Amino acid sequence: MSQPAEAPFLFDPPSRPDAWYLLAPSSAVRRGRVVTRRVCNEEVVLFRTGTGAVGALAAHCWHMGAHLGNGCVVGERLQCPLHHWEWDGEGACAGIPGEARAPAAARQPGYPVAERLGGIWVWMGGGAPGPVPGLETFDDAELLYAHGDAVRLRCPWYAPAANGFDEQHLSTVHGRALRERPRVDFPEPHRMRMRYLSRVTGHGVADRMMKRLSGDHIRVQISCWGGTTLTVESDVGRTRSALLLAMIPVGHEVEVTPVFTSRRGGVPGVDRVRLAVARFLFSRFIQKDVGVMDGMRFRPRLPLPGNEPLETFLRWASSLPGERSR
Ligand code: FES
Ligand SMILES: [Fe+2]
Repeated sequence: MSQPAEAPFLFDPPSRPDAWYLLAPSSAVRRGRVVTRRVCNEEVVLFRTGTGAVGALAAHCWHMGAHLGNGCVVGERLQCPLHHWEWDGEGACAGIPGEARAPAAARQPGYPVAERLGGIWVWMGGGAPGPVPGLETFDDAELLYAHGDAVRLRCPWYAPAANGFDEQHLSTVHGRALRERPRVDFPEPHRMRMRYLSRVTGHGVADRMMKRLSGDHIRVQISCWGGTTLTVESDVGRTRSALLLAMIPVGHEVEVTPVFTSRRGGVPGVDRVRLAVARFLFSRFIQKDVGVMDGMRFRPRLPLPGNEPLETFLRWASSLPGERSR
């Protein structure tokens, strides 16, 4: 008797995965400021209160739909610009001019917020928030970091994330060869990780620097958190540094923000140089990806022999919870 044919794998990632999104550097939302950001088709307003707490609320007021990005911070609340209703960071109505009490149903949708690695993260999605993305082989306190400018790419959010696991492009785009097979695992359900040891085959300035610094043994660990944040931790001889890439889906495009980091050594001048070197090397590395990702229509033809980590990523991305537009 013939076996029933296995259903073909359908590549179907969510258009907006349930995940933490890096919406702004902490320094961009100072006390009393209101900042509007967009994720997919949703606008979010961030505001920092008088005590320094950050709130994240849906942008359009529950009362009549005014844009809260035009409002102002009053103490611990965000005041709507139209009728001056005040919303706290949880979205509860905390005051209406001339009224003793708010209607029982008054509720501004809000989002969980966290601050980590010098940035404001907002959880978008159902269910309990997962861990806030971070670095596995560093303590936050030992890091120096610099938020780079966001780059808008004409490709879906999962193209840059998939790129992190595309073993074949390491040699064709980045001038690296693997010294051993990459190891892939899932330390937690929301996180996919790949570890490998590589050597330099490229001949550019950054390649030569990398070769000399590392003794030509570059140990790399890449994690994808919830689909939309990549962390890349590299061990280059005596220097360890890390890069975080935060992806935000915007329509059919993606906005990618790099956060460069290096380890704090205690001597401020040396630390600044170290961070500048890490920033230079990582920027050179990701510029090559930007050059090939922009304009890509992501259409993987499965199976992908010789690129098993990427195929694993695509299957995992398809299983992620989130919004799917049909
Ligand atoms: S629309 Fe916001 S208070 Fe009326
Ligand atoms: Fe790449």
